[in-house]
Amino acid sequence: ESIARQRSSHDDTNKISQLALAKNDGNSSTKSSNSLGDGDNDEMRLKRQVGLFSGVTLIVGTMIGSGIFVSAGSLLANAGSPGLCLVLWAACGLYSLLGALSYCEIGTLIPKSGGEYIYFLEAFGKMHKFFGPILAFIFAWVTVFLINPSSVAILSLSFAKYFISPILTAINFCPDVYLSYVIDRLLATICIGLITFVNCYSVSAATSVQNVFTVGKLTAIAIIIGGGLYYLGLGYTENLAIGFEGSASSFGQIATAFYGGLWAYSGWNNLNFITEELKDPYRNLPLAIIIAIPLTTICYVLINVSYLTVLTPEQIINSDVVAVDWGNVVLGPASFLIPLGVVVSVIGTTNGTLFAAGRVSHVVGREGQSPDFLSYIHIEKKTPVAPTLLTSLLGILMIIPGDIGTLIDFFGFAISIFYCAAMVALIVMRFTKKDEHRPIKVPIIIPIIVMVVSAILVVAPIVAAPQVQYFYVLLFILAGLIFYVPFVYYKKRVPGMDSFTIWTQKLLLVAPTTTH
Ligand code: ARG
Repeated sequence: ESIARQRSSHDDTNKISQLALAKNDGNSSTKSSNSLGDGDNDEMRLKRQVGLFSGVTLIVGTMIGSGIFVSAGSLLANAGSPGLCLVLWAACGLYSLLGALSYCEIGTLIPKSGGEYIYFLEAFGKMHKFFGPILAFIFAWVTVFLINPSSVAILSLSFAKYFISPILTAINFCPDVYLSYVIDRLLATICIGLITFVNCYSVSAATSVQNVFTVGKLTAIAIIIGGGLYYLGLGYTENLAIGFEGSASSFGQIATAFYGGLWAYSGWNNLNFITEELKDPYRNLPLAIIIAIPLTTICYVLINVSYLTVLTPEQIINSDVVAVDWGNVVLGPASFLIPLGVVVSVIGTTNGTLFAAGRVSHVVGREGQSPDFLSYIHIEKKTPVAPTLLTSLLGILMIIPGDIGTLIDFFGFAISIFYCAAMVALIVMRFTKKDEHRPIKVPIIIPIIVMVVSAILVVAPIVAAPQVQYFYVLLFILAGLIFYVPFVYYKKRVPGMDSFTIWTQKLLLVAPTTTH
């Protein structure tokens, strides 16, 4: 028990200690584990209630967000031709499918919450006392400080662009670069603020937002695909007829194009966070993946066909809001439906992303690799207030210098490192956990392919077109290592951390859920 916890139960309201006790009470323990959406341990295990259908909608609902509406231009620009662009969208889907199948093996071999963090800890943690847990720590470090906030930043900026564009058209106003920079950041901040509030305020509000908004996004997708097929039927094929003419041949360019795709497909591993909540997981986990990812891939490819049917490659590349331009051509007076659908889609995904961000911090805190307060939850609302606020604040900081394109490259680079590491973990465990029961075992070639492709995705853009954000990620990883040695490995207490923890507990009314 940390000093902080003892002290706070002294001088703060006794609610905090009540909460610590409340974990033995069936009702509140379900609530608190529910708030983080995972089965913390045996006594707090959630009921298995996610069936195949919910599993599929959960994956599709997380994956489809902003990417298909904001990355189409950059993917096309990097691909150089409509033909290669479509192939790359399909290839990203295949890569995600192979990755997800490999995650099925890991997720059923280690059926614990926490996703990659726990996998790294299990795969490498026991191999070497010092080096073993480093990768898990670095993963947590980069996820909490870079990946999650950058996701929120990209999503909120996409929200801003799609929210403001029909309004500007309606009032016939075209702001200059500076003004549109300010408007975008303001709207993005409001978006983050509102979703943060919902996530801190109530778990059920956060999950209902998710359900309503998934329906909205699927409607937008259906309209775009339907409209595209209709135009295709009318014979608008000249852009598609360009085929592979002008295709990029450099590895770096193709890898950078892939980053846009990685963003659009990210979230394919979401079911791995709730393996414990799946009904019949050995059947439903792979089945949900085999249905959801190809379904998303087909939607993404068809949406791109639709864009390319209605708009020229130049229009797609030069547009920030390609789906709005598409709507203006196809839908006429009903064109407002598209930005509405996109805004809804993006809010839903931001909400889900922020919701999930709380879980990782919680698990990391439970393993003792992060400051205690990051694993605490609100004493009444049972929501992970501290990590949610941290993610949102960092997200807001990132939108100040960042724009969608650079943030997506940043995200793609960072996430590829960990996809690669997860495949290494799978392969390592084939040796270290040779005799353990594997309900699902994928052909070894699958993780090898994903590992090699991920490694290329990390290296190729650095070699071909070095950008400062890749350097930042590497620097940040290095900073994590420096932090790891004294504070995690030698368990030195960060000076002032105890008083900071108490201060945070009082300010945010948060307390620990379980005794570590
Ligand atoms: N693929 C989503 C999009 O295109 C982003 C999902 C981010 N969330 C996550 N859990 N990876 O907007």
